[in-house]
Amino acid sequence: MKRTAVYPGSFDPITFGHLDIIKRACVMFERVIVAIVHNPNKSTLFSLNERLDMIRNVIGENPQVQVGSFEGLLVDFLMQNNTGVVVRGLRAVSDMEYEFQMAHANRELLKDIETIFLMPSEEYTYLSSSIVKEIARLGGDTKKFAPESVGALLKKKFKK
Ligand code: PNS
Repeated sequence: MKRTAVYPGSFDPITFGHLDIIKRACVMFERVIVAIVHNPNKSTLFSLNERLDMIRNVIGENPQVQVGSFEGLLVDFLMQNNTGVVVRGLRAVSDMEYEFQMAHANRELLKDIETIFLMPSEEYTYLSSSIVKEIARLGGDTKKFAPESVGALLKKKFKK
């Protein structure tokens, strides 16, 4: 088994579903790099720095998990980190089309890339960052969906 895996995503914000995937990846890999994408053409609720701080804070001191960011192609980030393993969560069949497209595109860009799909716990199959943002925006409680610290940041954002 390869030792390092990269778990890329927008994480806008991180949810219990993402944390569940990170926990599962840690069982399979010695090192997991959570890679936050910075796409200047895509607007996000949280800036890159806010997401970096948020995720580092949620993960805490865990020598197995590293939090980083990348701009541009994921395959370049993989090469910089000497790994060809990507971890993605697969919640439902509806995720498949998009995930297949990305996995194949990445493999075309750089051969020997493997994308490993992990299934989150059943209780998180419906969960997404968009749903959490929507609930927070409408004043709902997000504590079942994301850590308290993330909930507090969401509250602050939508108060503005
Ligand atoms: O959490 P998301 O938004 O579903 O994550 C998507 C992500 C970041 C994995 C994807 O957009 C990505 O890898 N972006 C980097 C750009 C890239 O490499 N594109 C070519 C392969 S699709």
